[in-house]
Amino acid sequence: MKKIALIIFIAALIISCNNNKSTLPKETTSVDKKWWKEAVIYQLYPRSFKDTDGDGVGDLKGIIEKLDYIKNLGVDVVWLNPIYSSPNDDNGYDISDYRNIMQEFGTLADFDTMLKGMHERGIKLVMDLVVNHSSDEHEWFKQSKSSRDNPYRNYYHWWPAEKGKPNYRYSLFDVKGEAWKYDSITNAYYLHYFSQKQPDLNWENPKVRNEVYDIMRFWADKGVDGFRLDAFQFVAKDTTFPKLPDGFEKDFMQYYAVQDGLHDYLKEMNEQVLSKYDVMSVAEGAGRNFKDAHDLVDENRKELNMAYAFDGVGIAQHDGYSLVHLKDVFSRWDSAFAKKGWLSVFLANHDQARMVSRFGNDSPQFREASSKLLNTFILSMRGTPYCYYGDELGMTNIEFNSIDEIPDNATRNGYYKAVNEGADPVEQMKIVNFSARDNGRTPMQWDTSINAGFTTNTPWLKVNPNHNEINVTAQENVSNSCLNYFRKMVQLRKDNPVLVYGDYQQLFPKHEQIYAYKRTLNDEKVLVLLNFSEKEIHLQLPKDISLKNELINNLEPLTVTDNKVLLKPYQAVIYSLK
Ligand code: GLC
Repeated sequence: MKKIALIIFIAALIISCNNNKSTLPKETTSVDKKWWKEAVIYQLYPRSFKDTDGDGVGDLKGIIEKLDYIKNLGVDVVWLNPIYSSPNDDNGYDISDYRNIMQEFGTLADFDTMLKGMHERGIKLVMDLVVNHSSDEHEWFKQSKSSRDNPYRNYYHWWPAEKGKPNYRYSLFDVKGEAWKYDSITNAYYLHYFSQKQPDLNWENPKVRNEVYDIMRFWADKGVDGFRLDAFQFVAKDTTFPKLPDGFEKDFMQYYAVQDGLHDYLKEMNEQVLSKYDVMSVAEGAGRNFKDAHDLVDENRKELNMAYAFDGVGIAQHDGYSLVHLKDVFSRWDSAFAKKGWLSVFLANHDQARMVSRFGNDSPQFREASSKLLNTFILSMRGTPYCYYGDELGMTNIEFNSIDEIPDNATRNGYYKAVNEGADPVEQMKIVNFSARDNGRTPMQWDTSINAGFTTNTPWLKVNPNHNEINVTAQENVSNSCLNYFRKMVQLRKDNPVLVYGDYQQLFPKHEQIYAYKRTLNDEKVLVLLNFSEKEIHLQLPKDISLKNELINNLEPLTVTDNKVLLKPYQAVIYSLK
């Protein structure tokens, strides 16, 4: 009897264990969900989006007019480049009044209407915050330069000339690369890491910091949903301005980025402003190394949500790039953030030439396929994707015939600096045509009408002549256009959290044409296959990969035989896996 009871007991135990096995939740990867991780960000360059008052410059009313277009892209957040009052030495990155709107763009009332229209459509707004420097036409600087004992003097970095010339500092935008500018009014030099019209603010001065926090509150109280901190990694400086090693400018990030004090400022900003609102924060630049990048976004440190690094976007050069290198960089960044922190993923922004011309292939034969491929990439990586206006259409670089056609002072000064130092002007112009950031700022191509429907007047920057083929209207009703592919890809990301939170694992790291990776979140597994070349590639997939459904494909469906796939030039495909 006892024996039977024991057998029954053991059998019951086995059954109950098995039952438990099936009812217990499967082992889950814990993900820390946040709206800004799940968001797709659409970066919009207001100067070039839509002009409604016929002055050749885009404006806020133009953005309002196009809100339904933005909504229909499926994106969640718009990041606007600076729209504050500015004399436009650097297209709004030189701010003369942080609480007002640039005249060419409209008024504060337009801003309120725009923000309301965004929120009604479920779109959030991220504003650019430019506080490493102001404009030299800001009232603070006008006061500061007027006398040495002015209360605003210490808002900026001054070096009295009687102490001799200050130690050399490199300027990113100056035609001579010189960051100190002599000002005779007070017989002193002021510091400008960017142009002479962008004097650097002195973050050691608590008054400056409080001014900035007040400005942030002003916009957050209006309802903005986040800030992109322009050039913020440069704000902390050793204000004794010691001599730096000869040639330091070749590696200036080591001396300029994330210097002592920066984290204290960020902690203070977080405590005073960021933590008080439901806003996202992203820094331009991620410091000198992974440690810096982590420290900026480590949740426990209470600083920022995200930063974005330039390692990836800097890879494409006018003489080409290596896909193995690109894969390595993106994979290293991913693995450094696999357990903690969060990345931004992008291939373009307003400081870069067009993505398809740099990383894809803008020839008529491959432009569409390669644009779609690049959008597949950005929207299937781990991290928050930043999509730049016009890239949803496959907008390309433009051909500038001479440096005089380029309004951007930074590009012009860079060109003249190189030529003055002996570079060949023709070669230099080739580089400019490949990489100048005005390539990425040409007006949005809405239709085939004059100036691509951007303006009825002369546009501030040439419209790309290819707007007759590449424009919104032409693509709107074509189901496999770049535009509609982009929309599908955004939707795919929304429908599949594995594309947002899933682990990333690269396959074939040494393959020179194919970028392939798996994304895994619990039971969900997908495989992304991207052919970054003009060649057809046969690819034998590993045995443990078992394809299930094709989720998206920029060309015709794949033929799969014995786990071998044939990828057409610039083919991009995502499969779910068994
Ligand atoms: C950032 C901006 C760039 C600007 C510079 C100076 O790098 O992205 O457009 O010119 O800062 O503000």
